[in-house]
Formats: sequence, structure tokens, C-alpha cells
Amino acid sequence: MPLVTTKEMFEKAYKGGYAVGAFNVNNMEIIQGVINAAKETNSPVILQVSKGARKYANMTYLKKLVEACIEDSDLPVALHLDHGDSFELCKQCVDDGFTSVMIDASHLPFEENVELSRRVAEYAHAHGVVVEAELGTLAGVEEHVENEYGSYTNPAQVEEFVRRTGVDSLAISIGTSHGAFKFSGEAKLRFDILEDISRRLPSFPIVLHGASSVPQEFVEEINTYGGNMKGARGVPEDMLRKAASMAVCKINIDSDIRLAFTAAVRKHLANNPAHFDPRQYLTPAREAVQQMVKHKIVDVLGSNGKA
Ligand code: G3H
Ligand code: 13P
Ligand code: ZN
Repeated sequence: MPLVTTKEMFEKAYKGGYAVGAFNVNNMEIIQGVINAAKETNSPVILQVSKGARKYANMTYLKKLVEACIEDSDLPVALHLDHGDSFELCKQCVDDGFTSVMIDASHLPFEENVELSRRVAEYAHAHGVVVEAELGTLAGVEEHVENEYGSYTNPAQVEEFVRRTGVDSLAISIGTSHGAFKFSGEAKLRFDILEDISRRLPSFPIVLHGASSVPQEFVEEINTYGGNMKGARGVPEDMLRKAASMAVCKINIDSDIRLAFTAAVRKHLANNPAHFDPRQYLTPAREAVQQMVKHKIVDVLGSNGKA
């Protein structure tokens, strides 16, 4: 089956009270691990390409790998540009066959965010591609609190933003952040903001970035086999389940893939010091990604059996 957009995935997810996983992909083993897990669980899935992935692997390589991985299956798979930072980049991805793009202009003033997101939506829609935009900023939530909402998404702005831009989904900030070190104290998400937003935007799909849970078994394994990730912490899985049962239809996961992959490589090399064939340690790494994604789909997102 060819790549699909997220439109139908999100409609079904919203109604069904679950979320679709959006997994960042950087190489063949990660793509295969994620797709194998989606096939095993009969789940829709979104594969997304970040700025780092674009620099590391090149979008064309990743797109071809994804296509090769799904050519024998009828699983709904969307290929998404993660954190697109310009109209030109979004246009290039639309022209290259991505089925979904994110324009992240959340760091810009409201009017500029509206204008850029609107322009991307106009172009993408004319080519059958869907668009995610962002309102509120993820990083530094604790640092700059200027008003009641600080850098959280201000619910009073969402209706106007969605109406004027025409975007198909909205990434919001309710306390998550990118990376493996999310909370120094107690993990806290502003579900009140999510509720307020979903009241104002009925049936509209919301996206949660920075949603890795940083499983402690991976952190411990990395630390045991020569790494140092002390204090790494993510979003508790019960909070992600709660978000998925609400208006959140897309949950972004990258750091957990990195952790699963790295833990498996470290463990393999520590236990097999004579191995030097990359296939020897990339095989367990790919398997670890698959098992982790399977766990997310079944125990956190609830998208199993929904393909
Ligand atoms: O949005 C953040 C993702 O984890 C991607 O990060 O640009 O280093 O690949 P990256
Ligand atoms: P994590 O760092 O929590 O995996 O977030 C990934 C993400 O939001 C990609 O856009
Ligand atoms: Zn993100």
C-alpha cells in the first residue's frame, strides 16, 4: 500500500480514544524495527524525519528505505517531516512524496507563526498533503514563565490559529520537552490546558511532542555497560495513556528509540568483545527497537489492531 496521510488515522484515533505513534527514523535498522512492530500489532504508524535525520541520512535515502519496507504490506503508514523550519523545506518534502509535514514556527510571534503555517497549509493541501503546526514552545517551560501560560500553549489562541492557518493538527506545549532529561523534580503535565484546548477545538487532533517515557531499564543497561545517563527521566506512561484517551492523536517518540538501540549495542559489545561485524550488534539493536515500539503501541498508545 502506498504511503497515506494522517487524516483517516487521526479521525479514527480521536473517536477511538487512542493515539498513533510517530517514531523518528534515522537509518535502516530503526525503520525496520518500527515497521516490524507495526506489522506485528496491526497498527497504523507515522515515521518522521527530523532535522538531525535530514543532516545525517538525507531525506531521499530515508524515503526509499521506508518505501522498500512497506511495499509488501497494506499497513497505513504516513511519512512526516518533523519540525520543518521553512516554507522551502516543507515544499520540498511535499514535492518529494511526504504525506505529512510539520511547520514549526512556534518560536516566532503569533502573527508570523500564523502567516508561515497558513502558507505551508495552502501549498500542502493543493498537493494532497496534511500539515501539523505548533503553538506554544516546548523547551524551557520552567525557565521563562512570563504569564499564566508561560511558554505553554495559551488556549485562548488556538481557535483563531487553526481557523486562520487551516492546518490539520496542532502540536501543543503542556509540559513535555525533547530529549532524555525531561523533569528534575516531579513529572507534571498541564492536562487542564489540554482539556481547555479540546473544548475549544472539538474533534481536532492534538499532537504531543517530547513524549518519550525514558524507560529506566534502558537507562540502567546503558549505565551498566559503560554509559553515563544518570538522572535521565521521561513522561510517565500513564500520563501518555491519559493524553491518548483525550484529544491527543499523535504521540512523538524519538529518545526511547535511541535508548533502546544504544542499550542493546552497548550490552552486545560488552558481552562479545571480539565482535566487530556491525551486523552482529545491529541485529539486537533492531530487535530492541521493535520490542520497545510494540510495547508503546499495545500498552501506551492503544493503536494495536486499528490498521
Ligand atoms: O524533535 C526532536 C527529535 O528528537 C529529533 O532530534 O534533530 O536530533 O534528530 P534530531
Ligand atoms: P522525545 O525526545 O521525547 O522522544 O521527543 C521526540 C519528538 O518530539 C520529535 O519531534
Ligand atoms: Zn518534537
